[in-house]
Amino acid sequence: MSLVLETPEAVSSAPKTARKHAGALNLRNVSKTYQVDGKPLKVLQNINLVVEPGEFVTLVGSSGCGKSTILRLIVGLDTECQGEILLDGAPITEPGLERSIVFQEHRLLPWLTVSQNIALGLDASRLSPAERERTVREHIELVGLSGFEKAFPRQLSGGMAQRAAIARSLVTQPEILLLDEPLAALDSLTRLHLQQELLRIWSREKVTMVMVTHDVEEAVFLSDKVVVLAPRPGRIRKEIAIDLPHPRNRVDPAFGALRQAVIEELTH
Ligand SMILES: Nc1ncnc2c1ncn2[C@@H]1O[C@H](COP(=O)(O)OP(=O)(O)OP(=O)(O)O)[C@@H](O)[C@H]1O
Ligand SMILES: [Mg+2]
Repeated sequence: MSLVLETPEAVSSAPKTARKHAGALNLRNVSKTYQVDGKPLKVLQNINLVVEPGEFVTLVGSSGCGKSTILRLIVGLDTECQGEILLDGAPITEPGLERSIVFQEHRLLPWLTVSQNIALGLDASRLSPAERERTVREHIELVGLSGFEKAFPRQLSGGMAQRAAIARSLVTQPEILLLDEPLAALDSLTRLHLQQELLRIWSREKVTMVMVTHDVEEAVFLSDKVVVLAPRPGRIRKEIAIDLPHPRNRVDPAFGALRQAVIEELTH
């Protein structure tokens, strides 16, 4: 990884609660069949994917090709599939604190403040009240929401609410962060800004990230590897390594060539 976004200021305000480590993810021959109207519907077929610790991988593919299904299986919200899903070599059998997910909609509880929503993630932890307060404060700083600790979700913009959702997902120090179209509902300027923010957060937190997006430029801008899925049933068509240093320049010909390569795989 050749990320150059770190600054002394960024390092000093990074959360001090140490992550155990970034997770290594391994999907081996994963297939999945739903029953629809009593008939089998095969939605994933022989998905083989390795995500290295600290890697940022994006999944792209047409609507219905199984991207969210893959994330649900990794996070353990759905455990019925063939094949194996391993985190650091151990099979995933249920949801766990080492895996977090951010969705397209923020899913914050409307009757709780930003701080209280983020603290919810720590309910199962053994932190003392003082440690809990410090951890929440650090994560509010991490996502740039200082000053909005006591705001309710309805008082936030869409981008701010997504920042709070990202903080809530990271507060438990997961080894892997899954993101299902987290920026899709935002206007294009906010989206560009939050792409930068995601990179900053990733570089500070050193967490493994797997993100679904429909935006090819976003995938090339953010990730180490773009995984292109083919539909019905969902299969991996191609993995495209994005070997460009950060910060990436969207008008650079090398960037354009990789964007084009992803589009060709999606449309051929
Ligand atoms: N609970 C379910 N029962 C039956 N079929 C389902 C269920 N959930 C998803 N599917 C089917 O599985 C397929 C994959 O769905 P999935 O939500 O993973 O697609 P996706 O790639 O995330 O699509 P999108 O880009 O629109 O979000 C679709 O054909 C969908 O109809
Ligand atoms: Mg989806």
